[in-house]
Amino acid sequence: MFDEVMRVAHQRGFFFKSAESYPNSPAGFWDYGPLGVSMKNKFIELWRRELVKRDGMIEIDGSQILPKAVFVASGHLESFSDPIVRCRKCGSFFRPDKLLEEKTKTQIPEKLSNKEYDDMLEKYDIRCENCGEKLRGTTRFNMMFRVGIGAAEEEAYLRPETCQTIFVDFPLLFKTQRVKLPVGIAQVGKSFRNEIAPRQGLLRLREITQAEIEVFFNPKRTEGGKFELFIGSKLPLYKEKEVVIGFSEARDMGLVSNKLVWYYLKMIFDFYVKAGIPEKDIRFRVLSDEDRAFYSREAFDLEVKLSIGWTELVACNYRGDYDLTRHSSVSGTDFSVDDQGEKLIPHVFELSMGVDRSIYAIIEKSMREEKGRKYLAVKPYLAPYHVGVFPLVNKDGIDLKALELSSLLSNCLDTFYDDSGSIGRRYARADEVGVPYCVTVDYDTFKDETVTIRDRDTRVQQRVKIEELSRKLEEMTRYPDIASLSMQNK
Ligand code: GLY
Repeated sequence: MFDEVMRVAHQRGFFFKSAESYPNSPAGFWDYGPLGVSMKNKFIELWRRELVKRDGMIEIDGSQILPKAVFVASGHLESFSDPIVRCRKCGSFFRPDKLLEEKTKTQIPEKLSNKEYDDMLEKYDIRCENCGEKLRGTTRFNMMFRVGIGAAEEEAYLRPETCQTIFVDFPLLFKTQRVKLPVGIAQVGKSFRNEIAPRQGLLRLREITQAEIEVFFNPKRTEGGKFELFIGSKLPLYKEKEVVIGFSEARDMGLVSNKLVWYYLKMIFDFYVKAGIPEKDIRFRVLSDEDRAFYSREAFDLEVKLSIGWTELVACNYRGDYDLTRHSSVSGTDFSVDDQGEKLIPHVFELSMGVDRSIYAIIEKSMREEKGRKYLAVKPYLAPYHVGVFPLVNKDGIDLKALELSSLLSNCLDTFYDDSGSIGRRYARADEVGVPYCVTVDYDTFKDETVTIRDRDTRVQQRVKIEELSRKLEEMTRYPDIASLSMQNK
């Protein structure tokens, strides 16, 4: 399935390796083509509606380069490193944990000591993938990209997570935006990680699009109000085994610490269901002490079951007051705020989403093949195009009428016009990239001012009056409405 996604992505212009025309360009950098850009924009817009706007958050767009001091404070200079092993014969670099995972088909913690990795490399006789030499001698490699600012090349770094801009902007935003705790601050943007051996397409990148939400709150106020909304819901939590349980049970089992955390886990779960991932294929992995990032005191990975195994799409971290306290002390700026008369450094719960991985996951989960027919059953509001417009034949004014309709529809919907090849081939091409509806103009159009709308999934066609066409298509392709939102909260 992975190979099929990559084939369609490459051939149809969802995404492809960056600088592909240059042999030996580095791995881990990918470009989005026209279809990928359209889908990514729609996905981000869904995230804005379903999380940012729905929860009354504010959004920023911060700088990607930050001074060294920020990363001294954040701990990334000291701790943002991966284990690495270099082949003594051919000089190739590898991640020992990833090689061990491939060999043992089990999850290997990222925080073992260098010696522990070496012992396991020995035990499983792990060898260089290029020359076959035994691999030993694990060390650490800091994954931040260093840049020099100005002629003096002042030390700075590309941010390895977008949230650092949110943290450093927090005092200003809190003061100027007239917000109070709890408040979510969101950001979509690029972050950069100098991965040692990126592979698997959009799943492990050096340049990543993240959509991050940092919720700032008073740790004494994690109940009441909206945080009670989803207390009756159940969520799938995985720690050694999967359980689908409610909040009280999860708290009693020590899996979730408070209602605020539960509320945001439920929101992100619902978001992925709306994005088209089946509920049964989503779970939260509850991370152990060894697996948590250095800034996290409680962590959940939202994972989706893909053909390559359960894959993390969102890191949900309770970061406590770690970041704000450190930025306060290194910068000398006061990061404390007032919450109903109490002065405090807020705690942070974060939903850190990998956008690229999510796009991959949605495409994979939408792929269908029925009796040789391939189609992408992506939600209409995430489809790269909402509608394709086809003339049945390229003559007798049918083509002109179809062009006119396509141009009119493109005012309100993502529309494309296709007049090449047989109508069957055109439907097939549209199906493969997930176009949910195709409109065809034929000879009857001139008799009764109607066209056909063909449904991608059922292939059923209905005749529709042209005057009703845009309203109907808009209805069929728009975001889930209020009625389905309230159903989901039950
Ligand atoms: N901000 C958390 C992460 O990037 O993984």
